[in-house]
Amino acid sequence: MTAKMRATVFHGVNDIRVEEVERPNAGVGEAVIRVTLTTICGTDLHIVRGEYPVKPDLIIGHEPVGVIEELGPGVAGYQVGDRVLVGAITPCGQCRACLSGHRSQCGHGDGYEAIGGWRFGNTIDGAQAEYLRVPYAQANLAKIPKELSDEQVVLLADIASTGFSGAESAGIKIGDSVVVFAQGPIGLCATAGAKLMGATLIIGVDGDSNRLAMSRRMGADVTLDFREVYVAAEVKRLTEGGADVAIEALGTESTFEGALRSLRPGGTLSSLGVYSGKLQIPYDAFAAGLGDHRIVTTLCPGGKERMRRLMEVVRSGRVDLTPLLTHTFPLDRIEEGYRIFGERREGVLKVAIKP
Ligand SMILES: NC(=O)c1ccc[n+]([C@@H]2O[C@H](COP(=O)([O-])OP(=O)(O)OC[C@H]3O[C@@H](n4cnc5c(N)ncnc54)[C@H](O)[C@@H]3O)[C@@H](O)[C@H]2O)c1
Ligand SMILES: [Zn+2]
Ligand SMILES: [Zn+2]
Repeated sequence: MTAKMRATVFHGVNDIRVEEVERPNAGVGEAVIRVTLTTICGTDLHIVRGEYPVKPDLIIGHEPVGVIEELGPGVAGYQVGDRVLVGAITPCGQCRACLSGHRSQCGHGDGYEAIGGWRFGNTIDGAQAEYLRVPYAQANLAKIPKELSDEQVVLLADIASTGFSGAESAGIKIGDSVVVFAQGPIGLCATAGAKLMGATLIIGVDGDSNRLAMSRRMGADVTLDFREVYVAAEVKRLTEGGADVAIEALGTESTFEGALRSLRPGGTLSSLGVYSGKLQIPYDAFAAGLGDHRIVTTLCPGGKERMRRLMEVVRSGRVDLTPLLTHTFPLDRIEEGYRIFGERREGVLKVAIKP
């Protein structure tokens, strides 16, 4: 008889259930971890609502912290019982994309679809379960320093890696002015990332007073409520001509355009949002193409070295992400967590799930 475990299974649109499924085993180059903490991502909401298709019967979730339960052949330097953090994106470290430095696009050139590095809860079983099989374990198991708790590191797997990368991809320089459009979990981490990179004027934009308050806590010097002010004009006034960097962390045409209009000539728009439909840019928002603007996009960086660095950021006290974990549920009550997170009730920012 094969061993069983509890897991959050996607059956179809608006139909996820925690149920008993087969426990995974570790094949060559793989590991199985016992998940001790995970969380729900906005992308999981897109999946549940049918806005991002995944195959039925898939276990969802992509933000795992756990303990190594089983190591497959060919994985060296780890022991059963080691505490590990695994990024949402699991690069193989060996394909053309990985070896070209585009680890999040792992698999490109080998017949995989775009964003091939995102596997958990997308193309293979994910983390909202008692156990998780980790592919390419050698490249993806990051040992957790013993002084760090699961709660301190769980958000590094996805939202912090993504949010910080928005600031890194923009190439923020010491003394830069930065505006961040949207202060959801991703935008809040972009705000923290801008501060880490050395920005000296950080402007957080949202329409939710709780989130604007958290924005200041995460490093914003000024916050703007987009319902009350015309943000681009206000940014131009505050920065005397436009921000050096605008980070888009929502994924709508209006915030993309607002970000572009907030930039000074030569400024960089760093886009993190996931868009749908058409994205149109009025010519005057970017000087008809002659403003020396840079537009960059980034998919969440993963892999064990990325996770190690992010854990050092936390260990050194440069950033504390635990205030973003506003709710905790056991795995069996994850649907309640999905409801609160999805309806953005009770001041929720991130929901921790304990299998
Ligand atoms: N690039 C990546 O790798 C990656 C990874 C994960 C998520 N994402 C994407 O990042 C985006 C943000 O994710 P999230 O979980 O933080 O989102 P969220 O839905 O939790 O938060 C969005 C925030 O935007 C605010 N908002 C709404 N309209 C606004 C406006 N006009 N101006 C400013 N703020 C506004 C809301 O009040 C809310 O606080 C999504 O598109 C998500 O799919 C990207
Ligand atoms: Zn995610
Ligand atoms: Zn690869």
